Amino acid sequence: MRTPLVAGNWKMHKTPSEARVWFNEFLDELGPMPEGAEAAILPSFPLLPVAAEELAGSGVFFGAQDVSAHDWGAYTGEVSAYQVADLGAKYAIVGHSERRKYWKEASSLVAEKAKRALEAGLVPIVCVGEELEVRERGEAIPFVVDQLKASLEGVRPERPEGLVVAYEPVWAIGTGKTATAGDAEAMAEAIRSVLAELFGPEFAEEVRVLYGGSIKPENFAEILAGPNVDGGLVGGASLKVDSFLSLVKTALNR
Ligand code: 13P
Repeated sequence: MRTPLVAGNWKMHKTPSEARVWFNEFLDELGPMPEGAEAAILPSFPLLPVAAEELAGSGVFFGAQDVSAHDWGAYTGEVSAYQVADLGAKYAIVGHSERRKYWKEASSLVAEKAKRALEAGLVPIVCVGEELEVRERGEAIPFVVDQLKASLEGVRPERPEGLVVAYEPVWAIGTGKTATAGDAEAMAEAIRSVLAELFGPEFAEEVRVLYGGSIKPENFAEILAGPNVDGGLVGGASLKVDSFLSLVKTALNR
């Protein structure tokens, strides 16, 4: 049984004090986290200690938006997966399309980051997704299949719960355009076939595959209806308590 996951990627938004207010309001409105879905917030690095403090004991998880491909050492400006894990984080996004685009991160680097996350005891959320012209050429599935294989090269999670894959079509991020529920499901199914090839069918059956890109309370239920879609990686709609809460409730009612 795959527990649906709603993960809020706050990107470079909010100060530590704004984060504290958000966590307090969210937990007040949520009450005890019900079973049946998982919620996680992925804020920028300086907000992680606040997340650790405020979310402690709440049943809501947190994680980082990136980690270094190195474990430790003289790498100014980098953040080690071990530093993130020591705070009590559960997740680390690796290979987000914004990192691939603006920092030219290659899938080989993404695979190294995923390995460091696993070694530190974090669950990597490995992101993949095609640009609009790739989809318009009808090549979205083969492109994402290749990108995923390269991003998981040498990555060996011990348990299926120890890996999450997020399909985020680049053209749907922050644009208000969402993939159709059918396209999201078709891609999630293709992703699960890659996971079956790499790790075996039983393992693949238990790995969570998320969709991301302009998820909102109005479109989430339809996207989640796909049998291979196990939740969402949410940008804009995770910044407001009410909309994130509504997404978590949708996942609970799945
Ligand atoms: P939006 O939900 O703002 O489109 O962002 C999606 C995303 O990039 C999450 O990682």
